[in-house]
Amino acid sequence: MNWIHRPRWLTRATLTAVLPLALVACGQQYPNTTFSPHTEFGRAIDGLWDRLLFWGVLVFVLVELALVFIVVKYRRRDAAPEPEHVHGHTVLEITWTLIPAVILVIIAIPTVKTIMRTEAPAPANALQVKVIGHQWWWEFQYPQYGVTTANELYLPSGRTASFSLTSVDVLHSFWIPQLGGKRDLITNHENHLWFTPDSALGPNAWNGFCAEFCGSSHANMRFRVFTVSAPDFESWAAHQASAAVFAAPPAAAPADSAGRGRRGGAGTNVSAAPQTPAQPAVMPVGYSFPREQLPAYTKPTTPLPKDLVFDATLVGDAERGRAKFAVSACIGCHTIKGTPTAIGTTGPNLTHVGSRTTIGAGLFPNDAQHLRLWVKDAQAMKPGAKMLPMGLGIPDAMTGVKGALTDQQIADIVAYLLALK
Ligand code: CUA
Repeated sequence: MNWIHRPRWLTRATLTAVLPLALVACGQQYPNTTFSPHTEFGRAIDGLWDRLLFWGVLVFVLVELALVFIVVKYRRRDAAPEPEHVHGHTVLEITWTLIPAVILVIIAIPTVKTIMRTEAPAPANALQVKVIGHQWWWEFQYPQYGVTTANELYLPSGRTASFSLTSVDVLHSFWIPQLGGKRDLITNHENHLWFTPDSALGPNAWNGFCAEFCGSSHANMRFRVFTVSAPDFESWAAHQASAAVFAAPPAAAPADSAGRGRRGGAGTNVSAAPQTPAQPAVMPVGYSFPREQLPAYTKPTTPLPKDLVFDATLVGDAERGRAKFAVSACIGCHTIKGTPTAIGTTGPNLTHVGSRTTIGAGLFPNDAQHLRLWVKDAQAMKPGAKMLPMGLGIPDAMTGVKGALTDQQIADIVAYLLALK
């Protein structure tokens, strides 16, 4: 007796193989899953996927059952005569043409409906966000608020966000698995995408990715998304729109009475709201997502290059750093609103860089240790990075390498940048 005559053995073997697989799927949280959508866009795609999966599984099971049945029932037997040969069976042929046609129609209707729904114009009062892809980082502009930032996207829960997507170089693709995407960023062509983070979401952080191969650091082109309450978003946007205010020495941070991560200190901002006599002289800076509430999956774990070193005993002087930044090569690529010389647009806008949680497009935490190494030699930190290795000097065709910053100068500049909350 061979294995095919032992259905109980077969059932047991199949269950043993399938059960652990099924249990693995329940084992842990998947922060980058698309099966846990938090927007109407995500749910539309997920619902369509469920339907397609149902029909796909149904067809697969029926076809495989028929196949196994026929293979077993009509297998070659030594004693049996040769089976009757049949040519043409009109009823059968019409049946197996009609059934797939009907299934295709059942799949096509919700598919076309979902396409129309997700391609429809966004509601008029939506938050406009311009997404610009760069090798290898993300520029986010909020034209309604006059904000330009990089690699960190703040979205108010419950309000539709309407993205216009373009690229300055090659194809990229905008993707936040739990919210929406993927949609391509194309040079000289504007793509659109809109979705509404669920109003019940509460403050939360999500991972965003580039989902279209775009060169050596494609996998290092990440971003963070923070879904926040409407008042927190307004607070964040008002502050991000303001010019960088830098005052040395930094004032002591006021007590965080609101408990929502408002920070006072060096980057105090006096232009976000008119001062009234009742308010303290040091205005709190705008909302930013509290670092202590960042989920583990949003914290970068990229290893540091082993041969890139920095004198950790150095203490940076922010005021000296501000002066050095304003006359060094930094200003050729970076804008700091309020610093007339710093108007470059090749690299990320650094006006409020101190308020961001990561650097290098989500690759490293934004702290003194990592930012110092980044400024010293970004290309060692991230393959293909366009950021010049400031600590190694800038190649000059006429005079050779020149203008290398010392570790002390970098420590000063980093102290300045981190003070730009
Ligand atoms: Cu940008 Cu891949």
